[in-house]
Amino acid sequence: MDIYSLLKFAHIIGFILLGGGLLAVFISEFEAYHTREMKAFVEAARYTARFYDSLVIPGAIIVAISGYFLLDKLGLGFFDAPWIIGMWGLFLFEFVEGNTITRLQFRKTLGLSLKAQVESKALTEAVRHEARTLLNQIVHFLDLPMFAVIVYCGTVRPDTWDEFFTVFTLALVVTALLVIFVPRLARSRFQKP
Ligand code: HEM
Repeated sequence: MDIYSLLKFAHIIGFILLGGGLLAVFISEFEAYHTREMKAFVEAARYTARFYDSLVIPGAIIVAISGYFLLDKLGLGFFDAPWIIGMWGLFLFEFVEGNTITRLQFRKTLGLSLKAQVESKALTEAVRHEARTLLNQIVHFLDLPMFAVIVYCGTVRPDTWDEFFTVFTLALVVTALLVIFVPRLARSRFQKP
């Protein structure tokens, strides 16, 4: 197997881990909105933290290293085309945002969930809102649409900024829809008699 194929293999393994981790986080966050039990609410916060540390971070490191050497192997420059800039640019944004704002958010959510459980609090709307603020929802629900834009850059390879920003704007619209509807959808079961 030649170096290029090895790098490509590593790149694909990397974004499978990263994407798989982001999908797992989506499910654990959905469960947090969906459950009525404090125990499941705390478990959801614990799994969100675990998926980030055990899947998203290792995947991101593998994708970054393999991506860097893929560029070198292909003789591509970092600024050669919108799809390349889109790929590493969005990756860098997500990596920094993921390890600062998002990490602070899910650590805070886990801490507040555990505190509410220790204080034998009921899983009230107040406890939910304190554990998952609007900022928390935005940074979590931004992950998958941005990941999809990066995969679009790698597979469809938009060669104009118009095409790139059309897809990017679409991803922001999807993020807004997820923030508005996912918590409501998850909780809609509460209304059922
Ligand atoms: C979340 C992060 C990333 C994801 C999801 C991702 C995804 C992808 C995908 C789906 C492809 C197409 C693979 C194929 O043709 O079969 C690709 C190719 C590529 N990626 Fe990424 N990538 C990411 C980050 C990066 C970064 C940070 C770099 C550079 C520093 C990079 C550089 C490249 C290069 C050079 C190719 C072209 C490989 C080729 O033509 O064979 N990627 N990426």
